[in-house]
Amino acid sequence: MDTLVQIKNLSKTYESIDGKVNAIKDVTFDIYKNEFLTIIGSSGCGKSTILNILDQLDKEYQGTIEFTEDINIGYMLQEDALFEWLTVEENALLGLKILKKLNDETRKYTISLLDKYGLKDFKDKYPKSLSGGMRQRVALIRTLATKPKILLMDEPFSALDYQTRLQVSDDVYRIIKQEGMTVVMVSHDLAESISVSDRIIVLSKRPATIKNIYKIELSNKSTPIENRKAKEFAYYYDILWKDLDKNV
Ligand SMILES: Nc1ncnc2c1ncn2[C@@H]1O[C@H](COP(=O)(O)OP(=O)(O)OP(=O)(O)O)[C@@H](O)[C@H]1O
Ligand SMILES: [Mg+2]
Repeated sequence: MDTLVQIKNLSKTYESIDGKVNAIKDVTFDIYKNEFLTIIGSSGCGKSTILNILDQLDKEYQGTIEFTEDINIGYMLQEDALFEWLTVEENALLGLKILKKLNDETRKYTISLLDKYGLKDFKDKYPKSLSGGMRQRVALIRTLATKPKILLMDEPFSALDYQTRLQVSDDVYRIIKQEGMTVVMVSHDLAESISVSDRIIVLSKRPATIKNIYKIELSNKSTPIENRKAKEFAYYYDILWKDLDKNV
């Protein structure tokens, strides 16, 4: 297993007018190339803090993060963050524009992603005419357009209803595998985490420390929806549930 990122003894304390908040403490883990790694933990324990640090949005922390190669990171925030006054195509191109990487070639690639993933007829429409699942796909394409080696996703499906959520996580999974990406996702949903992940990190309550790291080994591993039928599914659900339960 090739290591892409080594995270060692990561700690973070927020200082605000209300005092100090110890968010994460001594968090150490590796991110392997091409894996789907999910981080779960109770509400407010420090999950987003870890992603913000990985994305280098937040530079004030203790510990070290070592990248084994020079990589470009894509970050998909919890809300789809589409701009209602921009068309689907303009929204999809925004990430490139911000990074000053928008040119004929990258524009063509982005449009090919929109075409490939079912948004061909919606390029000139505004986000309000899209379903929740389609909006999520546009947000993902905006991030994918910058060709990130690592994709960070914070609760990417939480705004969607159950049925849509199953479909979208299947779609997103397929896109991620086709584009050969490494993923670090934060989720609250145990079943979803088991269905998509190669490994799951369970955090303790705040300040977050690593409680356990599980390797998810399902027989006949395939798409997320199919993976829910694997015979090992209930076993993982049970141990993760117990791990989280002890947190509260
Ligand atoms: N800018 C900030 N200033 C002060 N405290 C903060 C700040 N950002 C987060 N915190 C606190 O740090 C802790 C961890 O926050 P974080 O957002 O990482 O948790 P989380 O696990 O992502 O929560 P959720 O499950 O609700 O998304 C929380 O107690 C939060 O209130
Ligand atoms: Mg969060």
